Amino acid sequence: MPLERNPSTGELFLRLPAPYTSLILTPPRPDAPAIQAILRDPAVYTWLGRPSSNFSFEDAQRLLGEYTAAANAALDALKDDETEAGALKPMEDCPVRCLREVQPDGSDAFVGHIGFKRCKWFELGLDSDTAATRNGEQRERLVKENDARVTGDPDIVWQVSYYLSPTHHRRGIMTVVLRTLLDEWAIPRMCMRHIHVSVFTGNEGSVRMLEKCGFVRTGTMERCIEVRGERRSLHVLDWERAD
Ligand SMILES: CC(C)(COP(=O)(O)OP(=O)(O)OC[C@H]1O[C@@H](n2cnc3c(N)ncnc32)[C@H](O)[C@@H]1OP(=O)(O)O)[C@@H](O)C(=O)NCCC(=O)NCCS
Repeated sequence: MPLERNPSTGELFLRLPAPYTSLILTPPRPDAPAIQAILRDPAVYTWLGRPSSNFSFEDAQRLLGEYTAAANAALDALKDDETEAGALKPMEDCPVRCLREVQPDGSDAFVGHIGFKRCKWFELGLDSDTAATRNGEQRERLVKENDARVTGDPDIVWQVSYYLSPTHHRRGIMTVVLRTLLDEWAIPRMCMRHIHVSVFTGNEGSVRMLEKCGFVRTGTMERCIEVRGERRSLHVLDWERAD
């Protein structure tokens, strides 16, 4: 298993490869203050749908609650993750999702988050040949079909969301986080084969990061969503596992 266990706390973690070995992914902890500080920063919230400069401590606690529920379900599933034949059972989620920077004295600080979910966003086709906006009924049917697939079905379409503290932007970190999670966890343990992501136009960092991880831009939906009182456009990017 790529996950290690901290000998003093028993917490599972995944260390990033060199030269990023001071960064680890862990399950959530009482991270609400750090989450609030990062998501109130315009360099981050401008590119996300939900938060804003008004993002409160209670909002951060609610979000942390979502992260914790997902990570706990994965940690529970890990307790009984072998079939009778000794093979590993497929997982629905990843138990580690909070990115922390470990200091020389052993303490660490929350610097970002990444999480996978079954895709809820089927506005566009999954390849450029079918890149037409779908209607509400088509989208609802696709979400239902996607949710009904059993854990480990390689036809599940996933989405991924992530953010990093502005203090750590543009050092190659999220590229390595996503690549590592795909290679070490999502592909081998979640049988991931398709990811469908939408990114606000103008978010060059996110688009470039996804492209470096093998995502391909499949379309743009112009002025398709209202966020904080403004009509915004979205690029759609898709990733298909290379078999
Ligand atoms: C998107 C985000 C996670 C990228 O993380 P990161 O660790 O800074 O990205 P990386 O350093 O791995 O950069 C990947 C590539 O994008 C480029 N890039 C990063 N930020 C950029 C920016 N603001 N403008 C242009 N290019 C940028 C890098 O130069 C690199 O390309 P290169 O190797 O060709 O030079 C980070 O900018 C962030 O948290 N943004 C706010 C939240 C957000 O946008 N979340 C995603 C919503 S879809």
